[in-house]
Amino acid sequence: MRHSRSTSPAAAAAAAATVLVLAIAALSVFCEAGKTSAFVRKAEKTPDMPLDSDVFRVPPGYNAPQQVHITQGNHDGSAMIVSWVTEDEVGSSLVLYGTSENHLEFKAKGKAYTYRFYNYTSGYIHHCTIKHLKHDTKYYYAVGIGHTLRKFWFTTPPKAGPDVPYTFGIIGDLGQTSDSNMTLSHYELNPTKGQTVLYVGDLSYADDHPNHDNVRWDTWARFVERSAAYQPWIWTAGNHEIDFAPELGETRPFKPYNYRYHVPYKASGSTSPFWYSIKRGSAYIIVLASYSAYGKYTPQYQWLEAELPKVNRSETPWLIVLLHSPWYNSNDYHYMEGESMRAMFEAWFVKYKVDIVFAGHVHAYERSERVSNIAYTIANGLCSPVPDQSAPVYITIGDGGNIEGLATIMTEPQPAYSAYREASFGHAVLDVKNRTHAYYAWHRNQDGCAVEADSMWFFNRFWHPAPDSSASVR
Ligand SMILES: [Fe+2]
Repeated sequence: MRHSRSTSPAAAAAAAATVLVLAIAALSVFCEAGKTSAFVRKAEKTPDMPLDSDVFRVPPGYNAPQQVHITQGNHDGSAMIVSWVTEDEVGSSLVLYGTSENHLEFKAKGKAYTYRFYNYTSGYIHHCTIKHLKHDTKYYYAVGIGHTLRKFWFTTPPKAGPDVPYTFGIIGDLGQTSDSNMTLSHYELNPTKGQTVLYVGDLSYADDHPNHDNVRWDTWARFVERSAAYQPWIWTAGNHEIDFAPELGETRPFKPYNYRYHVPYKASGSTSPFWYSIKRGSAYIIVLASYSAYGKYTPQYQWLEAELPKVNRSETPWLIVLLHSPWYNSNDYHYMEGESMRAMFEAWFVKYKVDIVFAGHVHAYERSERVSNIAYTIANGLCSPVPDQSAPVYITIGDGGNIEGLATIMTEPQPAYSAYREASFGHAVLDVKNRTHAYYAWHRNQDGCAVEADSMWFFNRFWHPAPDSSASVR
């Protein structure tokens, strides 16, 4: 929703002066050279952790629920989808829940599904949406029955509002190596406690194993349970979710992902689980699909065109987009792969003043300046990115630490749109303070420790569209 203002000549002159000052400030920011970090990591790939690793431990007891994870269950955050797997028999699809740990007074019934993939048969995958939750409330919940009942808890977000503080973790391309384990541990130990993970795609990397060994989908979900059972992970589909393997007779794209990870897409009027939106705290999160059609007239295009004008920045000031294949990427790895989607949607992101776009896919870290590249017509030659304070910051954070290793080769020289880039694993936290300010920090994995290597104060594009500050004082 936009503000309408009546404009007097004096106000117009003041506004023009402000624009000039902002333009000069933007230019000066853009003229500073971007940084390519000199920090160097080992270049070898790390294999996936062995199947008998403790992080993949199956909980004890017959048919004990495993792979428990939660995600937001509706548009405003008053519902939660609880998912888990039972291996021996279907068992119960009930979730017991309540606000007192020892008195789970409510119950909700879900559904169980199984699927086959080549020579693999899944366990019983349960999904249960619990609704009508109170905002800003700690709930305890339990799945399973009898002596294999397992208990967890989560906290619902405050009712959406412009100055609601909220913290998001950002993780991408995690996989299941010892580097992945380090990244997840660093996120869990980060003193700025993330309340929800924005996950930018590529989950298990099961497809890097022979026959897309779907056992690796199971191990991955057991690995992340220690976080994903206690706070929602907001899912984005990446290319490693496609699992298209006609050589194995598997021709239905996204089959394992769709069975295992449910999202509340219908609540935002989407017709596909690959693109949808949620409100959480003071943020409006739009998830897009790099691997679904987005050309003009396609369902995703039509949905996004209708979706962006619905965002009420007076209710949710922070407009954040998640997608997998980055639009601004100066790494040699996956260079230009996001270009066709950028060409379709970038003008809308500038028009609607998207604050930040998080992407994965490239196994390195990069943060852009605020730039846009939307002036081009086939005749005018204006095909270079230019500073634009209405544009998002683009962050590539596909650096979770998966089996494929780091993307260390970068395009040279570093393009002007690239503010900071580094080939290291890590995670980030976005700490939204109020409608104008959010502190953002990327933490590299460094010799077993998390080191804050890139940080910014982001200023909201709707309420405070000044150049962001790289001030290191919080
Ligand atoms: Fe990817």
